[in-house]
Amino acid sequence: MQDNLSQDTSLQDTFLALAKQYDTPLYVYDLSRIERNFLSFKEAFGGRKSLICYALKANSNLGILSTLAQLGSGADCVSIGEVKRALLAGIPKYKIIFSGVGKRAEEIEEALKLDILFLNVESSAELKSIEQIAKNLSAQDLQNPQQDLHQSPRQNPQQTDSSPSLPKKARISIRVNPNIDAKTHPYISTGLSENKFGLDIESAKQAYLYAHNSPFLDPVGIHFHIGSQICELAPIAQSAEKIANLAKSLLALGIEIRFFDIGGGLGICYEEEEEIALYDYAQSILSALKGSDFTIICEPGRRIVGNAGVLLTKVLYEKHTANKRFVIVDSGMNDLMRPALYDAVHKVQVYSKASDKSSDKSNDKKGAKADIVGPVCESSDTFLREVELGELKQGDILGFGNAGAYGYSMASNYNTRAKPAEVGICQKDSTTQIVLLKKRETFSELVSNELECLKDFEKCAKSSAKSSAKTKSSLECALGFGNLSNFGNLSNADSSQDSTHTKKSKKSTKTPQKSTKSTK
Ligand SMILES: Cc1ncc(COP(=O)(O)O)c(C=O)c1O
Repeated sequence: MQDNLSQDTSLQDTFLALAKQYDTPLYVYDLSRIERNFLSFKEAFGGRKSLICYALKANSNLGILSTLAQLGSGADCVSIGEVKRALLAGIPKYKIIFSGVGKRAEEIEEALKLDILFLNVESSAELKSIEQIAKNLSAQDLQNPQQDLHQSPRQNPQQTDSSPSLPKKARISIRVNPNIDAKTHPYISTGLSENKFGLDIESAKQAYLYAHNSPFLDPVGIHFHIGSQICELAPIAQSAEKIANLAKSLLALGIEIRFFDIGGGLGICYEEEEEIALYDYAQSILSALKGSDFTIICEPGRRIVGNAGVLLTKVLYEKHTANKRFVIVDSGMNDLMRPALYDAVHKVQVYSKASDKSSDKSNDKKGAKADIVGPVCESSDTFLREVELGELKQGDILGFGNAGAYGYSMASNYNTRAKPAEVGICQKDSTTQIVLLKKRETFSELVSNELECLKDFEKCAKSSAKSSAKTKSSLECALGFGNLSNFGNLSNADSSQDSTHTKKSKKSTKTPQKSTKSTK
């Protein structure tokens, strides 16, 4: 097996065929590799009561979630949207946990009604909020016993108390910040007191005592997560030790912690990093938990999907300046933002065949080291600098490796660029099956929501007789359409990502609104 999907040379023809069939940019994921990655976590913690809750933030494609659901995965979610995604994909509610520093009251309420395993609490204020919401729900339950808002019985297999006469407590876990440096990029370091995440040990103790005494809270777990892309075991082992000591002291106080949630964070090899062996990882946690009987919850994201994804992209142009060779590709920082955000390196593979190479030797920079850049209007839209690429020609297909995690899930529509399609490949019994996991977005999808609003905007503009004519004509000419009512037709048109051209108007393109300068 190759280190990551992009380097699997046996798949070169598959990648070229996929690029042709689905166009580029295109995310391709190896579902078999995701399966293997998940199973290695299960195996590492196999000797112990454990639950692997895949962190959806790394990649929340429903096809991937459904693959993991079938393997018995739980889900670590950071929004109610992710909770609903997990449920849609078939992950049972009793395997879903909800983390995040800024949960809205509506999200908390919905999560409680959905009766998920527990909420990971990140502050004392949030704890009080959860308590209040649980109290309100209990009051509603009492007033409306027929329409029990916590409709289904608790499915947590460890939860036996389902007496209808008692208030239904909100199951919570508290994220403890151990103040330990994860030795990773500062943007993804979360376990230091200067980071916004979790409660320090002393505040956590107070919060547990408070929760223990509340009729509406049930502190069932303890949680830490010190960062992502961690390649040194020591900070994780030290954190586990510290949090295990706290958990044991809480048990001694009669607070029945059952789940020891160790977060995620294991790094993968993007360049030369050495990955932490899962066996060593598990052993360090088990040694911290010696003598206790907690169920271990682990929340890996990157380590499950990272090396199973490749972003295929096409060479659009080459540009040679006095001292640089630029290879301009059709994917941008909106499709894969890690290089722009963290200076992350996603190594590139060239998949076009050597025999296809151009014989044009007219420019001596053709085979020189190059910067690979995207089409987005930002200089940070640079994937790699000074890489050896050899000669390339228009239409060549390249692949950025290790793009399975925090690739599509961080993608945006910046520059009104439609998000790429996502395809899964499944390698079983020496055959490769292909499955489309998400269609490429269309221009109509991108603007449909705004078009709805634009109809109201038009009405509003009409109500002011004086400004109406000005508004309408300026909008019409800015967008090159004869009448705003035509927008309805546009939303029906199946425009591709490239059909964003609007006719140029010779008239003024100023809108009636105050013009604001781009602040990118
Ligand atoms: C609370 C929590 N759990 C799990 C993860 C997953 O981390 P990773 O993808 O590095 O495994 C994250 C990501 O930062 C997180 O914040």
